[in-house]
Amino acid sequence: MSNKKEQTNTAWGGRFTEQTDAFVEAFTASVQFDQRMYKQDIAGSRAHAKMLNKISILDKNDLVAILVGLDTIEQEIAEGNFVWSIAREDVHMNIEARLTELIGDAGKRLHTGRSRNDQVATDIRLYLREQIDFICAEIKRLQQGMLDIAEREAATIMPGFTHLQVAQPVTFGHHIMAWFEMLKRDASRFIDCQKRMNISPLGAAALAGTSYPIDREFTAKELGFSAPTQNSLDSVSDRDFAIEFCSASALLLTHMSRMSEELVMWSSAQFDFIELPDRFCTGSSIMPQKKNPDVPELVRGKTGRVNGNLVSLLTLMKSQPLAYNKDNQEDKEPLFDTVDTVLGCLRAFADMVPAIICKSDNMYKAAKQGFSTATDLADYLVCKDLPFRDAHEVVGKAVAMGVETGKDLSELTLEQLQQFSDKIDKDVFDVLTLEGSVESRNHVGGTAPEQVRKAIALARKEGTYN
Ligand code: ARG
Repeated sequence: MSNKKEQTNTAWGGRFTEQTDAFVEAFTASVQFDQRMYKQDIAGSRAHAKMLNKISILDKNDLVAILVGLDTIEQEIAEGNFVWSIAREDVHMNIEARLTELIGDAGKRLHTGRSRNDQVATDIRLYLREQIDFICAEIKRLQQGMLDIAEREAATIMPGFTHLQVAQPVTFGHHIMAWFEMLKRDASRFIDCQKRMNISPLGAAALAGTSYPIDREFTAKELGFSAPTQNSLDSVSDRDFAIEFCSASALLLTHMSRMSEELVMWSSAQFDFIELPDRFCTGSSIMPQKKNPDVPELVRGKTGRVNGNLVSLLTLMKSQPLAYNKDNQEDKEPLFDTVDTVLGCLRAFADMVPAIICKSDNMYKAAKQGFSTATDLADYLVCKDLPFRDAHEVVGKAVAMGVETGKDLSELTLEQLQQFSDKIDKDVFDVLTLEGSVESRNHVGGTAPEQVRKAIALARKEGTYN
């Protein structure tokens, strides 16, 4: 073709007669963000090259040149000496082009029987698989901190709330162990999603597979995948594993936002249950007295972006026809942002939570308000043969007297209490105390200090997640 212009993009420029528009080139590029998968991309290329050699498509000399070249490139990138180019579009083509610069024709043979479509699907899986290991390690560190506080505060009494109204006394250790349980399920969701993503799309090529006699088991094994994927169209097109990851992340952050909310409330002057060490707080530029719980507030706020990222990916995937579409390039930024946000939030929490200073006297005082042992009085009457509904009525009247006289149930006299039921005796005061109340809830999952200690021991024995 006589009017053919010189192409900058040697990877696919063959059929083109004009240069890509400069804006379009930048608009369609992903190298600015997908370069973070360079290690995975290189690992995938090593496995692919070894496989090509195994099936005699690539000779030994070319293989050695490719492997040496990839090592050089990996080092250049790690040391910051690699020149990333927008014109080379993405991480895959940047690395391949550099390889060809370094080793000549052997570099051009690497892409035999492969497409960027299976390449990118492989890279993201490898990348996420590793990030999940980091995330689970941070969850575990946070959980260990929680076990330590829960142990220290196993018998510390605080008000338990429903509707944010004082409901029944609980132990602070029990409350912290509730957080622990949430995280345990979160970690298991990540592990579950990691198992499902750990299959190799490499070999699906552009969409239909390839005519070379490739050995997909070999590359899967080389890359630590459990097996090759079973359908080439599905392999290059679906990002459900990334959506699952973002969904597990959104739930984790949702849990952390609940913890954050409690930390923010508890450290307020109105609650005054805890103090966060200064190093996790900031001040105000105008109000000298302020100490703000920024870390939990920010984690609570970051839940929004992680939820948003999940919705981005769901919307990105929705209605996409088979097989690969360029839409999928948009998966990376929400995904990477989710990884960074989750790791940052976990790190901040894992550092901060074990350093929480517990103001147990204030917790105790708060539990004494709000008639938190009213249910215990009702249960006491049931044990003395009063039907529960009648007991409920009796206690309601006693509470009304408490409200009127400004006294807790345990502060009413025996005579006062007996006005409401002749079944009340002086042993009633055993159940009206906060200690009596929490100790009586001594069954699996209950708030009694003994049960909290058992739950901690079990967690330490079985591990933080499974
Ligand atoms: N940068 C692309 C992505 O992130 C790689 C795959 C591109 N494939 C293609 N045929 N344009 O999805």
